[in-house]
Amino acid sequence: MRLGTPNSPTAVRVMLLGSGELGKEVVIELQRLGCEVVAVDRYDGAPAMQVAHRSHVIAMTDAAALRALVEAEKPHLIVPEIEAIATDELARIQADGLATVIPTARAAQLTMNREGIRRLAAEELGLPTSAYAFASSEAELAKAAAEVTGFPCFVKPVMSSSGKGQSYVETPDQIAAAWRYALEGGRVEQPRVIVEGRVDFDFEITQLTVRAMRDGQVETSFCAPIGHRQVKGDYVESWQPQAMSAPALSAARDIAAKVTGALGGLGIFGVELFVKGDEVWFSEVSPRPHDTGLVTLVTQLQSEFALHARAILGLPVDVAQRDVGASAVIYGGMEARGVAFEGVDEALAVPGADLRLFGKPESFERRRMGVALARGADVEIARERAREAASKVRPVAR
Ligand SMILES: Nc1ncnc2c1ncn2[C@@H]1O[C@H](COP(=O)(O)OP(=O)(O)OP(=O)(O)O)[C@@H](O)[C@H]1O
Ligand SMILES: [Mg+2]
Repeated sequence: MRLGTPNSPTAVRVMLLGSGELGKEVVIELQRLGCEVVAVDRYDGAPAMQVAHRSHVIAMTDAAALRALVEAEKPHLIVPEIEAIATDELARIQADGLATVIPTARAAQLTMNREGIRRLAAEELGLPTSAYAFASSEAELAKAAAEVTGFPCFVKPVMSSSGKGQSYVETPDQIAAAWRYALEGGRVEQPRVIVEGRVDFDFEITQLTVRAMRDGQVETSFCAPIGHRQVKGDYVESWQPQAMSAPALSAARDIAAKVTGALGGLGIFGVELFVKGDEVWFSEVSPRPHDTGLVTLVTQLQSEFALHARAILGLPVDVAQRDVGASAVIYGGMEARGVAFEGVDEALAVPGADLRLFGKPESFERRRMGVALARGADVEIARERAREAASKVRPVAR
């Protein structure tokens, strides 16, 4: 493995598909290692574009546009940062030897659709999951909920993320509304949903898992578990470590090793798990850095972004945790372009606090515009500090 000089014949070129806040941190880590980075998204001025060598605006679900861009830019590595990509084209790009898709094109294909990853995890790997069924009509959904999952249950479009189109359904008469909502929130024309029985967990975690080279072999390493709190399918707060029993931790790692092993390739994965006592259920997996893992910017020797950058370049990693910490999301709270942030000084005066402002050109009410981070002697102190720092930052219109 050798690295090069950007914009020269020795350059290692990396193309990011999706240029949000997670991609921005990955780009910064790649820049530190002298990679040449091309950032792509469907709108101009996206966070990762602001720190890349070049950027392009295309519809990443458009196979022809994606192919043309890859042929023009000739990246060595293609790093998906989101799920909504023409993943069948990524598979052809990889098969034609144009670039290596991170972690693999098949992983991108399987995880962009809840059906692909759920069938792999539950039916092929035999991992414990919620009861589930798939439905392509309201009638099928009503039948599946009544016969397979019971109530309460969750209804989710098979192609969607960040809680979009997702409903928590407590009684049969709420099925019709859940079906309609899923149609609005899903990404594709053919409507299809997964219905999942509710897992009555004590807490949920992200088990960050890295596949990286060491001494010529792929090694799987596990970060300390990250606890998090979700509101409407979107993370609002995370912390590391989440305390859990030794049997639960070992079950979590066993599940994470199996699912990341089946997806293959190199890079970091966010394995989402539900935990009750010693029992652990697989929920889903991102073959890329995870939003709840932003906390690792202040807790680990190498953040999840540094781990991803190193792993995909074929370099060894160190998953050691250095500090206890927490993160709390800062929302836009308004619809406006070019917002300003007041109270940053107060936020950073909170002991142990740090901050990332993502630089998104446009703010929405529930858009994640930044994140407050904090270290602390224990998780409770760190969470309190992160929440306090986040609350001090006030987005304001010009
Ligand atoms: N079967 C379930 N039982 C209990 N809680 C669930 C279940 N499914 C989802 N949830 C809750 O809803 C949250 C979001 O679900 P899920 O991760 O499937 O959605 P998502 O749209 O992929 O979200 P993201 O993209 O933010 O990960 C979970 O983190 C969990 O808190
Ligand atoms: Mg999730």
